[in-house]
Amino acid sequence: MSEDTRDLLRRVDDYVGGLFAPPDPALEDALRRSREAGLPEINVSATEGKLLLMLAEMVGARRILEIGTLGGYSAIHLARALSENGALISLELDERHAAVARENVAGAGLESKVEVRVGDARELLAGMVEDGEGPFDVVFIDADKGGYPEYLGWALRLSRPGSLILGDNAIRGGSVLDPGDESSRAIREFNEKLARDPRLSSLVLPLIRERIDGLAIARVRA
Ligand code: SAH
Ligand code: DHB
Ligand code: MG
Repeated sequence: MSEDTRDLLRRVDDYVGGLFAPPDPALEDALRRSREAGLPEINVSATEGKLLLMLAEMVGARRILEIGTLGGYSAIHLARALSENGALISLELDERHAAVARENVAGAGLESKVEVRVGDARELLAGMVEDGEGPFDVVFIDADKGGYPEYLGWALRLSRPGSLILGDNAIRGGSVLDPGDESSRAIREFNEKLARDPRLSSLVLPLIRERIDGLAIARVRA
């Protein structure tokens, strides 16, 4: 990508974000706290966060499941869409990430709605199915990319007709077009599973950020 193109992408995303995702103290605090704690800066963008919030609002979400919490930046967006007694459960492998996320969620006044669970998502999800913790209205997948195909299977088991299953990083700078690494191969497989599954109505929506990425959006059919 040329420097001009990169600059244009950034300016367009800043333009949209400036209009529709204006500065927000709790979100800015969350990013600052995450940076100070040394977390990787791989949260969703402000505009993608707004999209997540709107999608959750559109389905009137009362129960949301997130796979991959990091510092809770996307969780804050999703939790803000919840109705009064709604709840978000977010799964995170790294205890340090989870601790920062809990602080950030509390800073946003959302601690009564958000539960961060620590562990490998594969094991936590298996336990959730076993304990009958579904169905969730929205499942947002954003953990290790190699796990996406498997996470889709768990998401389907924790869904109902009408649920949304969302997947971040569905384009990965275009590397899904010709995958040269395991993560991109797994995302490509995830996208193909979404496209082929007759239980789902799906699309990958390309998004602009530092590079071109995308959000996979699937609705479980009635
Ligand atoms: N959703 C976050 C970003 C998540 S980054 C946001 O936009 O704000 C991906 C996170 O997934 C990291 O915190 C990483 O520690 C976590 N992760 C990686 N592998 C995991 C696994 N097997 N189970 C649970 N979490 C995992
Ligand atoms: C990475 C992970 C993400 O979830 C993301 O949105 C961007 C980058 C990564 O692991 O590099
Ligand atoms: Mg991501």
